[in-house]
Amino acid sequence: MTQTPASIDAVQTMLGAQDYVCDRALGTVTFLALTLGKPLFLEGEPGTGKTEIAKAIARGLGRRLIRLQCYEGLDAGSAVYEWNFPAQMVAIRTAEAEGVADRNLLKSELFGPDYLIERPLLEAMRPDEAGAPVLLIDELDRTDEPFEAFLLEALSDYQVTIPELGTIKAPEPPIVILTSNRTREVHDALKRRCLYHWVDYPDFGREMEILHARVPEAAETLSREIVAFVQRLRTEDIFKRPGVAETIDWAKCLLALDVIALSPQVISDTLGAILKYQDDIARLQGSEAKRILDEARASLEPA
Ligand SMILES: Nc1ncnc2c1ncn2[C@@H]1O[C@H](COP(=O)(O)OP(=O)(O)OP(=O)(O)O)[C@@H](O)[C@H]1O
Ligand SMILES: [Mg+2]
Repeated sequence: MTQTPASIDAVQTMLGAQDYVCDRALGTVTFLALTLGKPLFLEGEPGTGKTEIAKAIARGLGRRLIRLQCYEGLDAGSAVYEWNFPAQMVAIRTAEAEGVADRNLLKSELFGPDYLIERPLLEAMRPDEAGAPVLLIDELDRTDEPFEAFLLEALSDYQVTIPELGTIKAPEPPIVILTSNRTREVHDALKRRCLYHWVDYPDFGREMEILHARVPEAAETLSREIVAFVQRLRTEDIFKRPGVAETIDWAKCLLALDVIALSPQVISDTLGAILKYQDDIARLQGSEAKRILDEARASLEPA
């Protein structure tokens, strides 16, 4: 079984090997979460690497990644387990046709492991040779309060009770990472259980590192222009600021178009890679793109 990293540096190195750029502050909470066995609650702007870090931790530690994608209306059934109702019906029909007499036997079979569909929370409680899995509870803010309350309970004792089967307890608690875009506040009681970190947009240097890691084929001068432009764009009064994911996408688009340097024309042709709202795109077309590009270039000059 893989051990968790022994220091903050080791966490940063492990994530770096997965092409995940992790600053000291994020490295510190991650180290603490792994060492103390506490869930890590990551809140922040879209596209800033919250989901990705869970994947990088799982890969880095060689653990299984189990993802619970949250959505409005998600209930305990879809998060923990369900009975395979169609298969149970088939079994009942077959038993009827064959004239099986023992009702109790049939019932215990129907509510046994063969007909149980394990959902992420139950899966994450199962032992694994490689060590406890990484449980990613993604976009928690999309669910509602009753589900949060349920989750709070599941995360406090890492066990699940199935009336027909009994209680299943994780031999070792999973490594839990929760993410939120903060479209609403997550309840304090749940936050209290976790270590909390706000994931902000990276600064210029860190975004360059991320671009190097993710799009290594992009030339240095173009990468610098891209990052400077996006950084500048984030300070503008726009509806939806681009995340790191957009920076990466944009770099890939520009490479596919054989662009070697930004120009107002290139920018307005490819704005759809970084801005996803027509109002923002319309604002940036024409002279605005040139102004932001000029300012971005000016910010690069002293280097
Ligand atoms: N620190 C980082 N190191 C390397 N890649 C990163 C980093 N941050 C973001 N990325 C890249 O950006 C992409 C988007 O990140 P991710 O999906 O984790 O964002 P998110 O914070 O979960 O966004 P959302 O809130 O919209 O779900 C990733 O696929 C990854 O390529
Ligand atoms: Mg995400």
